[in-house]
Amino acid sequence: MKITVVGAGAVGASCAEYIAIKDFASEVVLLDIKEGFAEGKAMDLMQTATLNGFDTTITGTTGDYSKTKDSEVAVITSGIPRKPGMTREELIGINAGIVKDVATQLVKHSPNVTIIVVSNPMDTMTYLAHKELGLPKNKIIGMGGALDSARFKYRLSEALACPGSDVDGMVIGGHSDTGMLPLTRLATRNSVRVTEFLSEERLTQVAEDTKVGGATLTKLLGTSAWYAPGAAVSSLVQSIVCDQKKMFPCSTLLEGEYGLNDLCIGVPVIIGKNGIEKIVEIDLNDEEKAKLKESAEAVKKTNGLLE
Ligand code: 2OP
Repeated sequence: MKITVVGAGAVGASCAEYIAIKDFASEVVLLDIKEGFAEGKAMDLMQTATLNGFDTTITGTTGDYSKTKDSEVAVITSGIPRKPGMTREELIGINAGIVKDVATQLVKHSPNVTIIVVSNPMDTMTYLAHKELGLPKNKIIGMGGALDSARFKYRLSEALACPGSDVDGMVIGGHSDTGMLPLTRLATRNSVRVTEFLSEERLTQVAEDTKVGGATLTKLLGTSAWYAPGAAVSSLVQSIVCDQKKMFPCSTLLEGEYGLNDLCIGVPVIIGKNGIEKIVEIDLNDEEKAKLKESAEAVKKTNGLLE
């Protein structure tokens, strides 16, 4: 199985590293436009192979998409990250052109590829990919909810003072500081609703901390985060490559599901060898439905900024 990661920056390189360490793919091609950058990152990562015990081959290329030929999965991380104080939506002007060009090149060399979009504003970039590529809608996946859910579980484990492996929870909605919807009502600690352990006030704080999880790190780091985004993408890639049929919240094109149409936004989906194999419509209460609708309206507003 050949995986391409476009963008050898922190997120792309972390994604490539986690894919290699999990060792489920034969080859990862890392592509960047900066001369020698992807080649250097690939070589540095390959020099960890005997230390981290993986056989995956990582190669780098400077802008040569022929090297990505016949990739089963391609991850788009290219574009500029946000700076402290910026919203993801402010990146649209520069990143839309990059994502459009990258996606077109990827499909030209791998017509059957499944595309995972990471570049921000991610929901709008995913929608752009649908409009530009004409791929079947199951072959385009936006990665945001998997990351946001990991941050949600981190905050839940912090509040519960328990290991992250003891909690489960999902974030749906737009991958934005205001549009995310952490489903606190449904979150569990080892099958017991977290509402049994945490007050409504504390759960509200968990949800708010989750929503600004990316901005919090951007303020601390001076740029966007990369470890958790890279790990979240690698989990989606693994579910495709290994046909795991895992359920993740991912940005997908909705055509009536959840009462929403003509946008990409985070909802639970089953991820397998065919990409998005099923959109799962869970029962939301009236408050959750209203918040998802509000989030969708904000995503559509950002979509409207596309030329
Ligand atoms: C984040 O939330 C980069 O959007 C990504 O960290």
